[in-house]
Amino acid sequence: MKGLILSGGKGTRLRPITHTSAKQLVPVANKPVLFYGIEAMAAAGIADVGIIIAPETGDEIRAAAGDGSRFGVAITYIEQDEPLGLAHASLTAEPYLDGEPFVMYLGDNLLQGGITELVASFRASGPDALILLTPVDDPQNYGVAELAGDRVVRLVEKPPDPATDLALVGVYMFTAGIHDAARAIAPSDRGELEITDAIQYLVDQGRRVEPHIVRGWWKDTGRLEDMLEANRLVLDRIEPRIEGELLDSQCDGRVVVEAGARLERTTVRGPAIIGAGAQITDAYIGPYTSIGEGCVITDAEVEHSILLECSQVTNLEGRMESSLLGRNVKIARGVRQPRAYRFMVGDNSEIGIL
Ligand code: G1P
Repeated sequence: MKGLILSGGKGTRLRPITHTSAKQLVPVANKPVLFYGIEAMAAAGIADVGIIIAPETGDEIRAAAGDGSRFGVAITYIEQDEPLGLAHASLTAEPYLDGEPFVMYLGDNLLQGGITELVASFRASGPDALILLTPVDDPQNYGVAELAGDRVVRLVEKPPDPATDLALVGVYMFTAGIHDAARAIAPSDRGELEITDAIQYLVDQGRRVEPHIVRGWWKDTGRLEDMLEANRLVLDRIEPRIEGELLDSQCDGRVVVEAGARLERTTVRGPAIIGAGAQITDAYIGPYTSIGEGCVITDAEVEHSILLECSQVTNLEGRMESSLLGRNVKIARGVRQPRAYRFMVGDNSEIGIL
């Protein structure tokens, strides 16, 4: 059985971060989202993992995940020239998959509990496809399934008027028959070959499509709120570990301080993670915060936020919260007169003022 992780896509809902970085590399608890998927494959005993990449972000993904040896898998990169849909991605990977059954995993998805049991049950019962479902509040934003007992009878991609609240989670198990299904369907209104339609085709052909309801949490990290929530969920289970230096500082609860980080006159209230080499002085870091490597925080309070590498927050009057900062961002209260807001921000940025 092989693994296929889809790591193309434009990440439009996470701009401006995704103007310069792939959405699958935005970190959750200081680890790129993509790595959770690769680790889940490795844990399930899948040794060969293909990663679908887009021309714009492929190099960055290759540089981050490498040949896979550090995860204990062999990674093959497969370029998809145009984002023509998830079923199109499976067709692009057909030569690599070479007739083997495979797990398809959307690279911006996070699934608590991994896929080990699912792979085992797929192997044991041998259906044509196994899909993962979970109840959501906004099914119109997902592929939606209708069941009759334990059979899947209908799947619709982002229906305006959903028949159920069961969303398709971005993790699927297929036999090679999915490729013929992908060839048989027509593009959707958004111009994509939808995997949802390809699975519906299998159902229509009388093939066995098994549903599995996810019990733990699942997150598609496509939007800021989802990123922050994923960060919360992962930090909630982090093992406390202090390897950095604490001077007149205190860490309460689940806190990781990586080696080389330095905290001075600072309180960290977990769950939180402070990356290697971060310098935090006269600050308060509140729950559900991930501070990236090399960040500098001075005279400031930060809570429920994700800061990517080498960002700086200095001398803020109010508490910063529910924020996502990219790399090398600088936020500081200045001393210059006249007192005024001064910004230099990229396209699609959002700034909320107290
Ligand atoms: C895709 C699928 C959808 C699925 C979702 C899960 O949506 O098309 O069926 O429910 O992933 O994350 P997209 O992220 O392309 O909007």
